[in-house]
Amino acid sequence: MANETVRDPHSHYVPGQPKMKHVGWHVEVSFAKRVLECTVLITFNKPGLTTLDLRGIDIKEVKDSRFLDLAFSRIADHPVIGDGIQFVVPENRMVFIAYKTSPEASGLQWLTKEQTSGKRHPFMFTQGQCLHTRSFLPCQGTPEVRFTIDATVVVPKELRALMGANHFYRSEWREFEGCVVERWKMQQPIPAYLVSLAVGELEERDITDRCRVYAEKEMVEAAETEFKDIGKIMEAAERLAGPYEWGRFDMLVLPPSFPYGGMENPRLAFLSPTIVTGTGSMAFVIAHELAHAWTGNLITNVSWGDFWLNEGWTTYFEHRILEELYGREEALLHMAIQERDLKRDMDRFFATGKQAWTKLNVILTQDDDPDDVFSIIPYIKGAMFVQILEEAVGRARFDKFIQRYIAQFKFTSISTQKFLEFVDGELPGVLETVHHLEWVDGEGVPTNAPRVKSQKAAVALADAQLNMVPIDSHAWSSNQWVLYLQSLSRELPTSHADSLLQFNLHNAANIEVRWSYLLFCLETKFMNDDIGKAVEKLLTQVGRMKFILPIYRALTCNRVALTLAQQIFKNARSGYHPIAIAQVEKIFKEAESKSTT
Ligand code: BES
Ligand code: ZN
Repeated sequence: MANETVRDPHSHYVPGQPKMKHVGWHVEVSFAKRVLECTVLITFNKPGLTTLDLRGIDIKEVKDSRFLDLAFSRIADHPVIGDGIQFVVPENRMVFIAYKTSPEASGLQWLTKEQTSGKRHPFMFTQGQCLHTRSFLPCQGTPEVRFTIDATVVVPKELRALMGANHFYRSEWREFEGCVVERWKMQQPIPAYLVSLAVGELEERDITDRCRVYAEKEMVEAAETEFKDIGKIMEAAERLAGPYEWGRFDMLVLPPSFPYGGMENPRLAFLSPTIVTGTGSMAFVIAHELAHAWTGNLITNVSWGDFWLNEGWTTYFEHRILEELYGREEALLHMAIQERDLKRDMDRFFATGKQAWTKLNVILTQDDDPDDVFSIIPYIKGAMFVQILEEAVGRARFDKFIQRYIAQFKFTSISTQKFLEFVDGELPGVLETVHHLEWVDGEGVPTNAPRVKSQKAAVALADAQLNMVPIDSHAWSSNQWVLYLQSLSRELPTSHADSLLQFNLHNAANIEVRWSYLLFCLETKFMNDDIGKAVEKLLTQVGRMKFILPIYRALTCNRVALTLAQQIFKNARSGYHPIAIAQVEKIFKEAESKSTT
């Protein structure tokens, strides 16, 4: 049983070694040098030999708590998991480290003031998941280890620092050097990947007594309107999963380079501005990041091979919340779109020999970079698996099971195996009923997958399946358009994309619609000046990987398109996050190697 004693391939930490319990972090943010200059006093649970993960960090000194040098040795660098250090934790269990991050740290993005909406001040933010916290904080990067944090962050006085933690102090005592000092604490233990920090010129608006949105001034009002349902979303989530344990749920809208739609940093969800659409249609992203407060942040996947425990469960909650707030039809339409996304990623992994990554319980080695393994599969296949468990026992019984699951495992990290054992104990016989092994260890989508039946989806799907240009689309929602565009065959002649030009989709305000159309054009090889410009505009204006990676992939189909893509990338690169840059460069590298073999 207990995977928990098995070593996480993506960390140098060895199970049984002293674990981090508390971090006292001091951060000086230097925009001029694009580095964080830091000290950290780490308290461990016991003395003895232990290991920390690092990536590109410049260690200045390692000391005991009386400031005597502590001997340490280095662990060789590995391209995926980084390097590390080893030392013996002294009897009083405290170790002090002074260090500096690299300007290329993979978990930090530094934006010039020109790259912000306000254009007045620079901006910096972290992205820890999956293996990037180690590029800005020496830590045990496995999600099995959790620790509490006290942080002091020194920033230019025009700016504010935000953390996914409790703010308790802002002081001007370093005003003589143009700085302010902000202090934060996170009293609930969290895994390294949930450590977060953002610094910029930010405004705030209260939405409820426990939810507030932060954004640049230019965006804050639109964000406030977009997220107005957050109170209702929280109530629905609590009815489902039990009390919210993290106090506040604030939301931070980042600049457009943010590589994800959202990131569930505890107490402070990080969000892409692409979800501020003016229609409230992206509420599911908020519901999703909030739901992680239970599945992900309270109960955490023990390794990245068990990622579906975070994302599949959270996607299932996302569906339940949508259903409760906006009705079953809306939820089903949303699920129909996600099913298309699932098919796309399944096809991609099967076509590239990565079908082992289509399992829920993925067997990963340290050479498999979780950023490469990332796909929508653990989300949607995972949510389907949870849904058929629900269907097998009925909703009333399953809802009681959910509450027991959370109560049993909160503030711990679990494996797929442990989850299955719990299900077997609580709902005997159900695993066999749903053929769980096909779900967990099998590739592709099992035959007993739940089927989505939405009226609105059926209308859009019918048009797509008949290769029709829609006639009644004036009444379509953006979701219907997205479903239609995603479902159109990629074997269609260029005339189909051409005849859709009349709808002006390449200029649609809703980026999901615009992106779906542009992708259809590229994948059916339709191109004209307007489409070319719209593609370039999208790639230079946003850095969210969901949008940019499929477009870059589509542009590698031939030499001409590839050259164009490389040209656009050259200009857009400085606006992308290091994680996104690495992924785009891998797409180019693969395309180059294919064209030379
Ligand atoms: N935790 C993820 C984002 C993530 C995954 C970051 C893996 C780094 C590595 C977050 O909760 C998420 O799933 N975001 C989605 C939103 C969603 C509604 C599916 C996204 O970014 O699109
Ligand atoms: Zn998620």
